[in-house]
Amino acid sequence: MRRSSHTVPEKPLELNRSVISTQPTMSDSKLNIVILAAGKGTRMNSALPKVLHALAGKPLLRHVIDCAKQLDPAKIIVVYGHGGDAVPRNLAGQPVLCVQQAEQLGTGHAVQQAIPHLDLDATTLILLGDVPLISAQSCRRLLQQANDGFALLTVVKADPTGYGRIVRNATGEVQAIVEHKDATEQQRQIKEVNTGIMAIANAHLSLWLKQLKNDNSQREYYLTDIVGMAVQQGVRVAAVQAEDESEVSGVNAKQDLAGLERVYQMRYATRLMHAGVTLLDPFRIDVRGELTVGRDVEIDVGCVFIGKVVVGDNVRIGAYCVIQEAEIGAGSTIAPFTHIEKAKIAVDCRIGPYARLRPGTELADSAHVGNFVELKNAQVGTGSKINHLSYVGDATVGKQVNIGAGTITCNYDGVNKSRTVIGDRAFIGSDTQLIAPVTVGADATIGAGSTITKDAPANELTLSRSRQTSIAGWKRPQKKCDV
Ligand code: UD1
Ligand code: CA
Repeated sequence: MRRSSHTVPEKPLELNRSVISTQPTMSDSKLNIVILAAGKGTRMNSALPKVLHALAGKPLLRHVIDCAKQLDPAKIIVVYGHGGDAVPRNLAGQPVLCVQQAEQLGTGHAVQQAIPHLDLDATTLILLGDVPLISAQSCRRLLQQANDGFALLTVVKADPTGYGRIVRNATGEVQAIVEHKDATEQQRQIKEVNTGIMAIANAHLSLWLKQLKNDNSQREYYLTDIVGMAVQQGVRVAAVQAEDESEVSGVNAKQDLAGLERVYQMRYATRLMHAGVTLLDPFRIDVRGELTVGRDVEIDVGCVFIGKVVVGDNVRIGAYCVIQEAEIGAGSTIAPFTHIEKAKIAVDCRIGPYARLRPGTELADSAHVGNFVELKNAQVGTGSKINHLSYVGDATVGKQVNIGAGTITCNYDGVNKSRTVIGDRAFIGSDTQLIAPVTVGADATIGAGSTITKDAPANELTLSRSRQTSIAGWKRPQKKCDV
């Protein structure tokens, strides 16, 4: 990379915020985070637990955990239920404690499972494993308002059907949350709803959870009932409104997942454009990981970036490329329909269209790889060209080498893989098979159509085809009469 590059942060959401300065004032208050992730997700119609479905290539739950980590909590506890140990297995290596809620008896019951693990002197932030776009920024605002007491994150919805309604008194103080199914017609008119995300001092939380009853229309232990308890005990319940709806939107069905995917991608695209990238259509790019870009990068439509991808200054990427865990050096051009995976491309290279660079490919400066060329575990030197219809695998190719159309490195004998080594400035004629292990010396020339089974010496012409002959007087066969 020639110049400074910008990393687009994992949570592009963060950067669209107009308010940047709300740092938490909870230095003296310890933070616990409980992530509810036990729900079945029936409407996903899938064997996979809902929270493991991917958004931008990453499980929903991981998005929430990544947000939680940014808040620097003393503990993160994930309450899981469905899917056996699929959730804890997915979280192996993550700094979280998994607690099982064997039976899903309600959100209050879910939080109860975490109680034995909470720090008495801490505040607990409750997040939902199926609300992936929540930002650390909003959590901080909420925690500030909780102020060792109780704060709810609410949102105003045009259609509040199905949600718990925020009931306020005449002076605007929160009095209760009433679930849709338990609400009166009048309460159902309320458009401010509970997002499910809240912060409560643990001293209160542990006491209130013990008092929950399931005497409601769904026979569930509602976490939301603790709001009424707080009010009864004179604990003020603060309500913080989410800055935008998608941040607190839950995933219940595949349509929701697809909707949030678009929100995420549009935000990422916006970030890229802020960083100076030209996107021919910001609606048609997908980043499933982290894309780091230099200056004056141009990306055409339909490209997918997976994992960590680093792109240098002045790189142009044509339409419909799939690029995974790769580095592309400054000034390089990737023509349409090219697939690149775990490869390193130096500066000023020209790749594609229709090229496939598989893991272990390394191109030095100004290398050219053309259409229908597949490279695997191949190191290609400066200025070398492999422009048409070739397979080059397990190979070391020197500088200024020209590999003719249709050249194949035969690297596999059915059991073992072997290497092909091609010296600097070698010229490999079209339609050559290089039977590895084999070495072609520097400045060697291989005649077109050769099958090279032994090392080809430097500076010489090597070829292995039969001499061309013509048979005088030969006649084409004639069509016989029908019998
Ligand atoms: C809940 C809230 C409602 C709010 C809505 C926001 C209650 C009683 N109601 O409603 O006020 O407007 O969320 O989406 O809290 N979960 C468990 N274990 C359980 C039940 C749920 O882990 O036993 C988890 C789910 O996986 C989900 C979250 O808690 O992540 C919310 O559960 P869900 O069933 O979607 O909540 P609602 O009843 O719709
Ligand atoms: Ca829900």
